[in-house]
Amino acid sequence: MDRNKEFEQTLVLIKPDALKNSLTGYVLSLLSEFHTGLRFAGAKIVYVGRMLAEEHYAEHQGKIFFPSLLEYIMGKLHYPDEPWKRRVIALVYQGPDAVQKIRDICGPTNPLVARDKSPGCIRALGTLVSLKDNNGKVIGERMDNLIHASATNEDAEREIKLWFKPTDIPPFMRAYPIEMNQSSYYFEAGSLYLTHEPARICLLAPGDIAWKTDIDALRLLEKGLQTGGSLGSVAAKYLINTERDVE
Ligand code: GTP
Ligand code: MG
Repeated sequence: MDRNKEFEQTLVLIKPDALKNSLTGYVLSLLSEFHTGLRFAGAKIVYVGRMLAEEHYAEHQGKIFFPSLLEYIMGKLHYPDEPWKRRVIALVYQGPDAVQKIRDICGPTNPLVARDKSPGCIRALGTLVSLKDNNGKVIGERMDNLIHASATNEDAEREIKLWFKPTDIPPFMRAYPIEMNQSSYYFEAGSLYLTHEPARICLLAPGDIAWKTDIDALRLLEKGLQTGGSLGSVAAKYLINTERDVE
């Protein structure tokens, strides 16, 4: 067995438009082990807060469609008046060629291109929505394409670590190094703290299992040193479904 191939992982997000259109079962069927040879390694229902959304789509910061992309993944566009329905389904799939197999079934990013180039793919069922300025002038379009799938192995690692704690994934299925944390880390309003106060949320307590890269990042942040990953990219998953990253 080639361990690296066998343990390849990818992150899938079933986005709010797919949930609103009751396409979850259909999407899961297309991605099933019978069709793809891939196994579930993780699954959760997530209320997507702004911090998580910004971290997930960090590469698109500054683009014209970025604000609407955040509102889209946060569920605010499809459920403006029903916050309790805002959620995505986050999944980790594992197995040989996981990244490419799932990207192929998703199809091209733009639903119109998807319909043209790859009829039958998931995103062929998506839609384009016009983006307008305050005067009603069309300034671009939003792509409601139902599903996200990691584009490369590097993206998959970053994204899986952003959405999932190691303990959300069965021990023998984890693809990235973990470590037992030895310190107390708390978070409040964008800052890291080492002591508890009522408004601070505990990110990690001594004895908790965490991604090694997260512990490395927290140690550097604790010393006031710069890290490649921002505090947000570590903290966001610990705030998932806690009411702390809610609006
Ligand atoms: P994801 O799996 O969602 O990451 O899609 P992708 O990898 O096929 O595309 P990419 O990461 O480049 O873009 C992320 C999301 O931003 C897409 O799913 C689209 O919703 C949106 N997006 C990307 N490019 C454009 C664009 O040129 N215009 C608009 N309006 N939206 C875009
Ligand atoms: Mg992408």
